[in-house]
Amino acid sequence: MKKIGVLTGGGDAPGLNAVIRAVVKTAIGSYQCEVVGIRDGYDGFLKEKGQIPLGRSEVRGILPRGGTILGTANRGNPFARKVIRDGKTVIEDTSDEVVAVIEKQKLDGLIVIGGDGTLKISQELFAKGVPVIGVPKTIDNDVGGTEVTFGFDTALETATEAIDKLHTTAESHHRVMVLELMGRDAGFIALHAGVAGGADVILIPEISFRYEAIVDKVVRRVESGRHFSILAVSEGAKSLDGEQVFSRSGNEIYVPRLGGVGEMVGKYVEDHSGQETRVTVLGHIQRGGSPTPFDRWLATRYGAAAARLAAKGGFGRMVSLRNGEVVDISLDEALAIPKRVKVDGDAVRTARDLGIYFGDEK
Ligand code: F6P
Repeated sequence: MKKIGVLTGGGDAPGLNAVIRAVVKTAIGSYQCEVVGIRDGYDGFLKEKGQIPLGRSEVRGILPRGGTILGTANRGNPFARKVIRDGKTVIEDTSDEVVAVIEKQKLDGLIVIGGDGTLKISQELFAKGVPVIGVPKTIDNDVGGTEVTFGFDTALETATEAIDKLHTTAESHHRVMVLELMGRDAGFIALHAGVAGGADVILIPEISFRYEAIVDKVVRRVESGRHFSILAVSEGAKSLDGEQVFSRSGNEIYVPRLGGVGEMVGKYVEDHSGQETRVTVLGHIQRGGSPTPFDRWLATRYGAAAARLAAKGGFGRMVSLRNGEVVDISLDEALAIPKRVKVDGDAVRTARDLGIYFGDEK
């Protein structure tokens, strides 16, 4: 192994820099291998100055920093890239150009740090002969085949802190406070932060809710002398007879953007319970900030393991956490089934045992 590339794709997540640092330190320290950083996801292969040498000095001091020193792009799919041809914007498959640059660069491996979208692109590039290795990233924790993605723990801490802060106003003003949280089609952030923050209702995409059940919980609390309630609502949650709520529709470049369910729930609860209600959308705050020690630790282990895997030629694979050990699995296995909250698992059961409503109560 003489030279490897590393890139970060999709939405940023705390811990990306820790992975980059671990890749660089392991590749140089243990394998005397050169590392090239690809800027702004796969786009870096196609633009000027899109590839930069990464040495020890480039990764010094980045361990606690959020974001990614390489930049990222969540529209950077080389198989469907927006390009200008004869003055017109068109969507083109530029994957052959990307493969040609990788070959020209003589990369012996390409470490791709990303969520399901970015990893899916890697799988397709692997099929075209690119020696890729995946590292699972996302605050949503929805990548299959791994117990946890890095970034999730930091987002969870931020979301829990937000619930704690909303609690004080809820209690002082006798209000219902709704907190809309990220997670796309997986309810991990809302579920874990909801339990950790002592929410009264948690709405997640995996369990369709009835508005009446939420109101019932709020009213029961009022009747028992608890004049406030906290509702943790995952952006992908939907009512039994409704659809997910989007703030922006998708196109051939962008996936649709979820958002707005918190407002809908808040309005219904206020109208039907008579309790004053406020809605907070935590948004990208969840993706920012310094990674927690857990995320730094996990990201570092993933990065070092990815470099070791590249050295032994384990391409088309992704590092993952299983039973506390970092192992590697095929990208096919990782991408076969996205991870979702187990509706009959112990986490949901525990929340129910504590009296938390999911909105499916009769
Ligand atoms: O996948 C991470 C995530 O933060 C989701 O939780 C959220 O739905 C989405 O990305 C937001 O994407 P964007 O940054 O494009 O608005």
